[in-house]
Order: sequence, then structure tokens, then C-alpha cells
Amino acid sequence: MNLVVVSNRVSRGKPNEPMTGGLAAALLPVVEKTGAIWVGSSGRVRDGNHKEPFAEVEALGAGALAMLDLPAAHYGGYYEGFANSALWPAMHSRADLIRASHEDYTSYREVNAFMARALLRFRKPDSVFWIQDYHFLALGAELRDLGVTQPIGFFLHTPWPARAVIAGVPNHRELIEAMLSYDLIGFQTDEDCENFLSYVQNDLEFEVRDGVINSSFGRTRAAVFPIGIDPDKFAQQATKAMTHPDVTRLRRSLNGEKLAIGVDRLDYSKGLVNRIKAFDKMWSLHPNLRRSVSLLQIATPSRGAIEAYGNLASEVAKLVTDVNGVHGEVDWTPIRYLNKGFGQGVLAGLYRTAQVGVVTPLQDGMNLVAKEYVAAQNPADPGVLVLSKFAGAANELDAALLVNPHDIDGMARTLATALAMPLTERRMRWEAMMEKLNSGTIQQWFADFIEALQDTHSAGNAALPE
Ligand code: F6P
Repeated sequence: MNLVVVSNRVSRGKPNEPMTGGLAAALLPVVEKTGAIWVGSSGRVRDGNHKEPFAEVEALGAGALAMLDLPAAHYGGYYEGFANSALWPAMHSRADLIRASHEDYTSYREVNAFMARALLRFRKPDSVFWIQDYHFLALGAELRDLGVTQPIGFFLHTPWPARAVIAGVPNHRELIEAMLSYDLIGFQTDEDCENFLSYVQNDLEFEVRDGVINSSFGRTRAAVFPIGIDPDKFAQQATKAMTHPDVTRLRRSLNGEKLAIGVDRLDYSKGLVNRIKAFDKMWSLHPNLRRSVSLLQIATPSRGAIEAYGNLASEVAKLVTDVNGVHGEVDWTPIRYLNKGFGQGVLAGLYRTAQVGVVTPLQDGMNLVAKEYVAAQNPADPGVLVLSKFAGAANELDAALLVNPHDIDGMARTLATALAMPLTERRMRWEAMMEKLNSGTIQQWFADFIEALQDTHSAGNAALPE
């Protein structure tokens, strides 16, 4: 098998490369170990006629990385436009934030078609294509139009919303029909998969039986493959990272004070405003926790050219300033707020230093920070995970302290409980969560998806008329 993995964002696998989003972090070990070729955006654009896509190819472990310059005329409409101002808000059930012009949709389809042409260069007779995330919903259909008959699978890293929300996306029908060219569509949770199938059954009126859709576009299976991490590797990274200068400086600066940590992209789906309000409430309700616990919030900027992201950045920055102004002391800052990215070699150590990991998105596909925080803990003295019940990870990590991120008072109380939790209970919860991480690793996710893709493709071919 010659695996071709496609995603918008890629990682070069450099030790100090800042990781933005869980997707690139998750795919990196898969590509490095399996010898796959990983194709994505170089982050640069190129003018002119794109009959011959330009790709820079380099080795990545046993595999390779091909970074494409995307067409300049369509990049904005594709990335800031349709992908991140129509699909992203819809996927996270924020229909109020959907903004997209018909030109944006055209650009999105153009970039999908461009990527399909570029992939032909990497096609071999035994190729298997695995497309990632909402940037490329129509890529399978474009590949089929170019005559590709090999297995093509798709995995969605975000949630899939209720029918009424997806219907707010311009051209939703055409787009979801295009998805039916995939052999297999993978989701993070049962709910995402059910929402998708409900749209296909009720709005497109295609027959669905046991997760298999029989449509005029072919046979497509939809199933659930919760993404995991490599817990052993992350634990090793965390132990090693304790001597990293950033981690040593952080520990020295704490002076016995406890630390809570949040690590997110600066995105409205991550619930940052509610989280900071919950800490504000906690320090108001429990003045004894002032000086004795602080929050390190890393909020890595992303998609800054989009208005909703600019507004959020200003709102969070103001809130942090207000909370620090109210609760701070001449020698104590309640919230340490950083707008930059860190490599995994540092993050793992920051997680291990913190007594509480705070992962409280309003909606999230999986959220690998939750899993990484758990894997990074010291087994003899593990920290506590406070996790939103609206993150996909909550399905597996039910031994975390689960919270409703809309309930600020409830979150404030839970944070205080987490900070006071006795060692025996912390250990019990941590061991239960580690069991889940060890049974659903990234390697298992990869193997399960590829096996199901090959089976589905063969079954689909067998069902074709002679
Ligand atoms: O995990 C969701 C996701 O959108 C990924 O597809 C993407 O790689 C990551 O978040 C970061 O987003 P962006 O590349 O837009 O900064």
C-alpha cells in the first residue's frame, strides 16, 4: 500500500516547531512511521496558471512531506473564507458566525480541484488516499472526476453539527453530495456520525443501513474512529522536558504556588472567555486561593485575518487585564497570558508542572490537549483534568472532572475541587484515564481507519454490477 495523506496544515517534525492544532501533531508520527506521503499547504501562494502545481518535497522519517503553494487568486476565499468563516463556525454550531460569499465557495472548490490535480503526481496503482478535515470535503469527488479508482477515505477532526446548523452553510447540499464519493467517512464521536447520517437520510433522502449510504454517487460508509495519542512517547517527552529552560524557569517562578494550565488556539470554540470568568469567580469565592494558585493560559494566534478571531483576541486580552487588575498583587499575577505557540518538547513539561489541566471548549471534535495533559503527568503525583463535556475527549475521559463551560459558577466550584483533590482520588482518576489512552492510541486509530477503508472499498467494488 502507498498511503497518501492530505491535510491543509502540515508539520515538518522539527523538535521546536510550534504545534498549532491537534491534527498536525496527530498525523506526524503516523507519516514518520508508516512511510506515507503527506501532502498539504506550504503556507505560501503562487500566481499564474496552476496546470503544474508546485510542491516542495522533503523526507519525514520513513515518509515524505510535500508542501504545495496554493493558487493566490483563491487562497483567501478558500481558507479565511469558506473553510474558516462558513464551515468552521457551522461545525462548531455557531450558525450566527457563518459568513461566506458565493465567490468563497467557488474558491474553496477551486482549491479542492487544484489539490486533486496535484495528487495525481503521487498516485501509484496501490495508492490509498486519506483526506483530512473540513478544508477538503469535496476532494474525493474531484479525484473521482480525474479517474482515480483507488480507495479514498476522509476523516473529520471537528464535530458534525445538527441538520439545521449545517443547512446554514451556502451550497451545503452540493457539498455533502460531493462527500459521497468517499468510500469511508470517519467521525470522532457517535453524535457526529449520527448527525451526518441524519442529514443524508432526511435531506438528501438516500438510504442508510448500518452506517452504509447507498446513493447515486456510490456506496459510502460512515463510522466512528476517536483519535488518540502515543501516551508512552508523550510521557517520555514530559519527563525529558522537565529540564527544558522554559520549564525550569516556570517552576522556579512558582515558589510553591499551584498552577493550572490551559493550552488552546485563540479560537471562539475553545471557551476562553468563560474559562477566565470561572477563574475570576473562583478567586472571588475563595480568597485563600489568591496567591496560592495561578493560571498559565497559552492562546496561540490562528486565523487572525478573520473578524471573529480579531474580536475574540481583543475580548480575551481585556478580560485577562481586568481579572489581573482586580485580583493581582504587587508581587503576584493571577493569569499569565501568552499569545505564542510552543513545541511539544516544552508543552509536555508545562503540562507535568501543572496541578490542574483546564480544557473547557464550548464544542470540540476531540481535543488532544486533554489526552496529552493526562499522559504527561507524574504517576506518583498526578494532576487533575477539568474537561468540558462538549469535547469529544469527554466520551473516553469520563474520569476527569467534567464541566459545563456555560455554567461559570459550576466551573469555579469544580476548579476549587480539583485544586483540593487528595492524592488517592487523583491517582484513581488518572489511572482510569490512562487505561483509556492506552487502549485507543494514535497507532490504533490509524490501523483501524485504514483497515476499514480497504474493506469498504473492496466491498463497494464487489457490489458493483459485472
Ligand atoms: O483541528 C482542527 C484544525 O482546524 C485543523 O484542521 C488545523 O490543522 C488546526 O485546527 C489549526 O488550524 P489552522 O491551520 O487554521 O491554524
